[in-house]
Order: sequence, then structure tokens, then C-alpha cells
Amino acid sequence: MNPEYIFTLFILIVLPLLYLLILTKKTHKNLPPGSWGLPFLGQTLSFLRAMRTNTAENWVQERVKKYGPVSKFNFLGTPTVFLHGQAANKFIYTCDCNTLANQQPTSVRRVMGERNIMELSGIDHKRVRGALVSFLKPEVLKQYVGRMDEEVRKHMEMHWHGKEQVQAMPLMKSLTFNIMSSLIFGVEQGARRDAFVEHFQHIINGVLSMPVNLPFTRFNRSLRASAKVRVMVKELLREKRQALKQQHTSAAASANQDLISCLISLRNEDDSVLLTDEEIIDNALVIMVAGHDTSSILITFMIRLLANDPSVYATIVQEHEEIAKNKASGELLTWEDLAKMKYTWRVAMETLRITPPVFCSFRKVLTDFEYEGYIIPKGWQVMWAACMTQMDEKNFPDPSKFDATRFEKQSPSPPFSFVAFGGGSRMCPGNEFARIETLVTLHYLLSKFTWKLSCRNNSFFRDPMPVFNDGLSIHIKPRKL
Ligand code: HEM
Ligand SMILES: *[C@@H]1O[C@H](CO)[C@@H](O)[C@H](O)[C@H]1NC(C)=O
Ligand SMILES: *[C@@H]1O[C@H](CO)[C@@H](O)[C@H](O)[C@H]1NC(C)=O
Repeated sequence: MNPEYIFTLFILIVLPLLYLLILTKKTHKNLPPGSWGLPFLGQTLSFLRAMRTNTAENWVQERVKKYGPVSKFNFLGTPTVFLHGQAANKFIYTCDCNTLANQQPTSVRRVMGERNIMELSGIDHKRVRGALVSFLKPEVLKQYVGRMDEEVRKHMEMHWHGKEQVQAMPLMKSLTFNIMSSLIFGVEQGARRDAFVEHFQHIINGVLSMPVNLPFTRFNRSLRASAKVRVMVKELLREKRQALKQQHTSAAASANQDLISCLISLRNEDDSVLLTDEEIIDNALVIMVAGHDTSSILITFMIRLLANDPSVYATIVQEHEEIAKNKASGELLTWEDLAKMKYTWRVAMETLRITPPVFCSFRKVLTDFEYEGYIIPKGWQVMWAACMTQMDEKNFPDPSKFDATRFEKQSPSPPFSFVAFGGGSRMCPGNEFARIETLVTLHYLLSKFTWKLSCRNNSFFRDPMPVFNDGLSIHIKPRKL
């Protein structure tokens, strides 16, 4: 037996057993229904299996049928309350930070760093989030449409032109990585970017792994890659500070040219720095991972949809023909062009509704609280599958039908029922960024190519992010719009 497995088993079974025994010894009055599911591994494995066979929705539904919208179980060794439904979404997204805190698995914290936004709460969270939003807000992002356009065209030139068959998923990951590398780090094509690609691959492989730090584990490799990226970003900080200092002599450097330059320029009223170097580095890492692994999935689902649904395809192509018609060849897309892609963004929203990239999330319970008459004790974790409300017919009639016109309405559904980007004070700050890169990419895909799925089985599973069989292979043909 592989020693990694022995350690994993030890950590998965023995430690949680002790922990649970201690935690549940104090008998609380009115705990939610549900069994701890001895042996302890049982429910963790059944959930992970459901994710891997793309039946997590059924897993949730069965659980809710059996126990109702509040139930307890043991997940990865931590006593967990599972909350379900629109009321739960609202409760969690509007809950104060003294009751619920963000909690990522240990491996995420160790790889991304203690000061990454997902670990912060209260005023620290507000400050760091404000700094990130000062770069990610539409008024700033609108000046980057042209740079995203250039990245997309370069990508198609290299990986699509002259090909008959491509794998959509890995290509979209590579494209969104490159866009982020340019706009987050200010690192363009070249040796430095190649090194980033390699290190981030190791980081992502180990972000959600058993936190066993031995030389042969995924976790250890992820930590080592993270350490290397940190050294590289530190060097970037030094270079960019220097460039900004010489700003008056060179037009090249500007505080808004990438996220890092923006963050090092932010100051408090007393002229002290707003974010420490550690905070800048941790959050640049988090954004790279949180950003490219989600939008790439959205675009891939849209590629699949457009191959399968001729009527959506016909409408969306028309929108892009209209835009392409008014552009000279080689002319970059503008913010105004994106504003015309209304139908395309509705298709994206409907895609996010039916196949959300993020399936479930976690919070940590900081103080005992009461919910629906049950006591949820401090030290437990809250787990919920927010997006299940998107397939509830009370919120979206005929929920399994793909219908982009739902999003024509100002408020297409009750509050906290469309939650692909989360909600409340921790709602995804990257949604505008995702919108821009999705629209630009779709424009060039639709204007330069037609495609057909080349594999019969185009299903996906979650690991924990959606993965396609065969990377979603497609046959492509060039076209002229
Ligand atoms: C289609 C694309 C995307 C989807 C579906 C998505 C989804 C989400 C969701 C559901 C959350 C909230 C998680 C929770 O409440 O526990 C979140 C948070 C976050 N996302 Fe995104 N995201 C996307 C793109 C991006 C991009 C492009 C960026 C960066 C440029 C980004 C950066 C972040 C960050 C920093 C947070 C943490 C916010 C906080 O804790 O205050 N995301 N995202
Ligand atoms: C990886 O494992 C080796 C050997 O145990 C250890 O020396 C090293 O510190 C680990 N790497 C990190 C980044 O923790
Ligand atoms: C598609 O592949 C998945 C496994 O990757 C399998 O579970 C599923 O049954 C397959 N579907 C069809 C229609 O063959």
C-alpha cells in the first residue's frame, strides 16, 4: 500500500474520530436530524462519489427528502450541518461575521497563504476586498477590453487556426490563464509566463489535497510550487515599484496597468501602504486560481451548448455578425461592442444557472446559533449547495429547460435564488472580469469557427470543479464572418 494512503487513512479516520468524540460529548439540546454515519468515512465518500459521477444533485435531494432542509453529518472528519434552500442561502449570505466565518480546507490555507481574502473576515476582509475591487470594478476593467482581445486572437492564431480537432477545456484553461497572467501580474508571453504556468499547475493539483507534507505527496509539490511563485511575485513587486517610481520618465508604467501595480500603489490617508506585501502576494495567487478555473469552465459549457442547440446558436451568431459587420479587420473590440452582446451574456447566465462551476461551499461556525429551531454548535462547519435553488421550479419555472430569455427580466428570480456568483458581502468580485473575457472569447470563436462535438459522450463530472470526458473534443472549421 502506498504510504500516502496510509497517512491519508490515518488522517481521515482516526483523527476525526477523536475530534468528533470530544466535540459531541457535551450533549446539545436540539441538534439537527441526521446520523454521523458510522463508520465515519461513509458519508464523505458517498458525497465525493456523487460529485465524481455527476449525481451530487441527487445526493442532496435524497438527503433533503430524508431529513429536511437542515441536517447533520460528518464531512472530511468535521461535524457538519447541511443547509438547503433559498432561506438557507439568504441566511448564510447575510449572516454576520461573528457567527459564520469563511473556512477553506487546510490545504487551501497552506498553499494560498494565511492572508488570502478567503481566510479573512471583518475589517481585514473589507479592506482587502476593497483593494481588489478597486481594480476589478467595471470602470477600471473597461480599459482592458483591447488587451483581452489581443490575448484571445493570439491564442486562436496559435491553437485553433489550421487545426481540425481541438480539446476545448484545456485550451480555455490556457487562454484564461494567459489573460489573467497579463492583467493580474503584468507578465506577457515568454519564459516567465511559462514558469508561472508550470508552477500554477502544481499549485492547483494540490490545492484540495490531504494536507500531508511529505516529499512524495501532491500537497508537498503544491507547497513547493507556491513557494517558487512567491519568490517570482516578490521580484515582480520590486520591479514594478521601481517602474512606478520612474513613472514620470517613462510612459510605460502606470498604477492601473495590472492588479499588482494597482495594489502596490494603494495608500491609506496617512500615506501608509494599504496592503502588506504578504497580502498582495497571497491575494494575487488566489485570484489567479479562483479566476481562471471558473471562467474557462463557463466558456467550455457554452461551447458544448452551442454545438447542441441550433436555435440558441442561430440567435447568438446573429448578434456577433451584427458587431463584426461594423468593424474593420484587425480592429479591437471595445467596451461599447460588449454592451451590444446582451443575448450572449444571457446565454452565459442561463449556462451558469444550469451548470454552475461552483457546486458547494463551506463556512465555519464561530458561536452557537439557532436555525429553524435547531442548535448549531460552535466548531461545526456549514455546508450548502447554493446553486440547487437554480433548479427549483418555484424560482425558475420548467427548470431543466434552457431558456436564455429568463434573464431579459430585471429580476428574473427571487433574491438569493440565482447564486452562481455567490451573494452578500462575499459575492464574487470577479464577475465583471469573467463577463468581459467570456464575451470577447465567444465573439472570436463564433466569428472565426464553426464546431461540432467529436465525442458522443459529452458528459462531465466534478473533481471538485467540472471535468469533461476527453476534455470536450470538438471538430472545428474556419469560417469568415
Ligand atoms: C464564471 C466565473 C466565476 C464564477 C462562477 C465564480 C464564482 C464564485 C463564487 C460562487 C464565489 C463565492 C464563494 C463563497 O461564497 O464561498 C466566488 C468568490 C470569489 N471569486 Fe469568483 N467566480 C468566477 C470568476 C472569478 C474571477 C474571474 C475572479 C478574479 C478575477 C474571481 C475572484 C473571486 C474572489 C477573489 C472571491 C472571494 C471573494 C471574497 O471572499 O470576498 N472569480 N466566486
Ligand atoms: C516537502 O517535503 C520535504 C521533505 O519532507 C521537506 O523538507 C520540505 O520542507 C517540504 N516542502 C515544503 C514546501 O514544505
Ligand atoms: C459517459 O461517461 C461517463 C463516465 O465518464 C459514464 O458514467 C456515462 O454512463 C457515459 N454516458 C454514456 C451515455 O455513455
